[in-house]
Amino acid sequence: MLAQQASWDDIGDALVTERAFLTRFTAEQDVQTNEVQRAWGLLPGFLSIADGRPFDLLELGPSAGLNLVWDRYSYRYSTGQWGDGPLELAGADRLPPPPELLRRTVEVARRRGIDLSPVDATTEHGARLLQAFVWADQTERLERLRSAIEILRTDPPALLRGDYVESLPALLADRREGTQLVVFQTASTMYVDRSGIDKLRSALEEASRREPIVYLGTGRAPEDDGYSLDVERFPGGELTRLAVFDFHGEWLDWGR
Ligand SMILES: C[S@@+](CC[C@H](N)C(=O)[O-])C[C@H]1O[C@@H](n2cnc3c(N)ncnc32)[C@H](O)[C@@H]1O
Repeated sequence: MLAQQASWDDIGDALVTERAFLTRFTAEQDVQTNEVQRAWGLLPGFLSIADGRPFDLLELGPSAGLNLVWDRYSYRYSTGQWGDGPLELAGADRLPPPPELLRRTVEVARRRGIDLSPVDATTEHGARLLQAFVWADQTERLERLRSAIEILRTDPPALLRGDYVESLPALLADRREGTQLVVFQTASTMYVDRSGIDKLRSALEEASRREPIVYLGTGRAPEDDGYSLDVERFPGGELTRLAVFDFHGEWLDWGR
């Protein structure tokens, strides 16, 4: 946020001279990260639910929407690669996804996200805000973030401001003919209380009476060492655990 005004090389000085700004900023601005590397954990999940129709994506709590453009990145696993985007995501696939999964292709017809406080990464302010939440010495993470921002800017997704618990029924009512509606989230529903989760599930159940809906999301892993990656199919809400991946997407245990 203090680009061209302060330097990490002289942080002691900056803490004094920029004291007023830093006091206000840290008091008023909640931490709001958008971790692109989580897309590396998500991708095999998307591929495993693809039914041949283009995806109509709806992300709950996308922050800046960097994981809403997951199909524009490329991915490396020990069993194969996927995509040809300019940003390559890779990690430690301790239990890798099956190679045949990585041969699937998907098309995205629409991307929508709803967040209490969406970050507009197409603006300089938004881009700086996202970078401000990454530790300054995590250079690889910062590079990945900057690269993803450039990719998002080529054709930004639609980000709505609002509470998805309240807005989900209306968003689900807006369907696109001939597409597969996929509702997904990472690291967001953990902020929602039990009654909110029940409301989300009811909205999915209700809307799926018209046409089935697939939900893909992170949950609590049994050993609490990362996120579980779960698929729930509505109507019915039958849950299948696909994987467990690191909270920041550094490792993946497919099929655990
Ligand atoms: C930890 S961030 C994760 C962002 C992104 N999904 C990721 O994995 O990088 C959680 C996001 O969920 C959003 N959020 C939490 N509860 C929400 C709600 N009820 N409605 C809309 N957005 C919500 C927050 O504003 C924040 O952007």
